[in-house]
Amino acid sequence: MKKYELKPGLFYVGIKNPTLRTFDIVMRTDYGTTYNSYLIKDEKNALIETAHHSFFDSYIESVQEIVDLNTIDYIILNHTEPDHSGSLNNLVKLCPHATVVCTTPASIYLKAITNNSAIKFQIAKNGDTISLGRNSLQFILAPFLHWPDTMFTYCSEMSTVFTCDFLGAHYCEDAIVDSKIHYVNKYKHGFLNYYNDIFSPFKKHVLEGLKKLSGLPFDMACVSHGPVLTSSGLLNYAMDSYYALSNTVMPQTPKITPVFYCSAYGFTRKIADAIVKEINKISSDYNCQSYDIIEHDMNMLIKLMNESVGFLIGSPTINRDTVPPVLSLLSHIDAINSAKKPVGVFGSYGWSGEAIPTIVARLSSIKLNPINSGLKINFNPSISDDDQIKAYAKDFTDAIASYAK
Ligand SMILES: Cc1cc2nc3c(=O)[nH]c(=O)nc-3n(C[C@H](O)[C@H](O)[C@H](O)COP(=O)(O)O)c2cc1C
Ligand SMILES: [Fe+2]
Ligand SMILES: [Fe+2]
Repeated sequence: MKKYELKPGLFYVGIKNPTLRTFDIVMRTDYGTTYNSYLIKDEKNALIETAHHSFFDSYIESVQEIVDLNTIDYIILNHTEPDHSGSLNNLVKLCPHATVVCTTPASIYLKAITNNSAIKFQIAKNGDTISLGRNSLQFILAPFLHWPDTMFTYCSEMSTVFTCDFLGAHYCEDAIVDSKIHYVNKYKHGFLNYYNDIFSPFKKHVLEGLKKLSGLPFDMACVSHGPVLTSSGLLNYAMDSYYALSNTVMPQTPKITPVFYCSAYGFTRKIADAIVKEINKISSDYNCQSYDIIEHDMNMLIKLMNESVGFLIGSPTINRDTVPPVLSLLSHIDAINSAKKPVGVFGSYGWSGEAIPTIVARLSSIKLNPINSGLKINFNPSISDDDQIKAYAKDFTDAIASYAK
């Protein structure tokens, strides 16, 4: 990669991966991504972030173009996920004088990631600074953006902040700086998806992170994915978007109480309909509505589920298990922000009925609140099942009332 100097003494030494289409198993990356790393050349030299291990050879070439590896004094790791720390083991072998600077949790994770007891660590406490000569680096702890290990690194002399994943985007063009990219709308699409996938579970921490940044004068944010952000480019767009997207309050009263279900022969649907009727009878405020999972857009259902004050999920038992569309919806629960959320679980079964305890166990394990041990009805619900359906609906609404308090 051609040497690229962002500011005097500050070099981009990142890697571009334009063809990547899936990141961390669950994220779509329609526009590829980049693994950004930065080098500050001063009396002491500092590398900030490394790169994914599969690109180590071209990564190290870019660094060597600018400095002799023997002269690297610091490797600053703002976050330890292996897309940024993956080259560390190979790198420290070639940089014998480098000390790794990171937070306490980051040092614990790095020991377990590298299994390398030879790495020299310096723990960054909030507000600590190190001098590189003309420039200094200040460390600002920013936990849960997006792991407990995270910090920002600030260089006041260069008016630059290094935010790692925060404010980044899975987006790759030839350009390195925001003002030079060609497809701003595509960037914005990638940027917003990235926020949703990575930061939306951490809204409170995002607001805290923005507050910390607002106290610093800077005109450049060196993010770890996507273009470098500048005040004459997309920096304000990025910060304003994070603020707007995170400054939302979770509803305290239900807008809709969704009942999601699948049903092969209509028996589980019958239970869903009876539950909806009963809950709306208890109070029309619940605005209870049912959704056949395979008939609706999954993204719409996920949003309804995660924004609800409580929901119900119904599945028949097929071959001793629940059915894939139900599992697929449940795999999108925002568990971090749904602790103790009441969830009703129900379904029709023939002879063994494993779907219900399977769903209940999964919800318990991610710390939601499944109501009792679920509601199992043998084959076709009849009048004789009415009382238990009504009792279950009542238990669910009672749980919502105490959850929403
Ligand atoms: C292919 C197939 C496999 C099934 N496997 C089981 C099973 O392992 N255990 C069980 O209790 N019921 C099993 N059943 C019975 C269904 O759970 C039962 O018919 C139920 O009432 C279907 O509800 P639905 O109409 O809402 O789909 C199976 C049904 C089908 C069609
Ligand atoms: Fe990360
Ligand atoms: Fe990352």
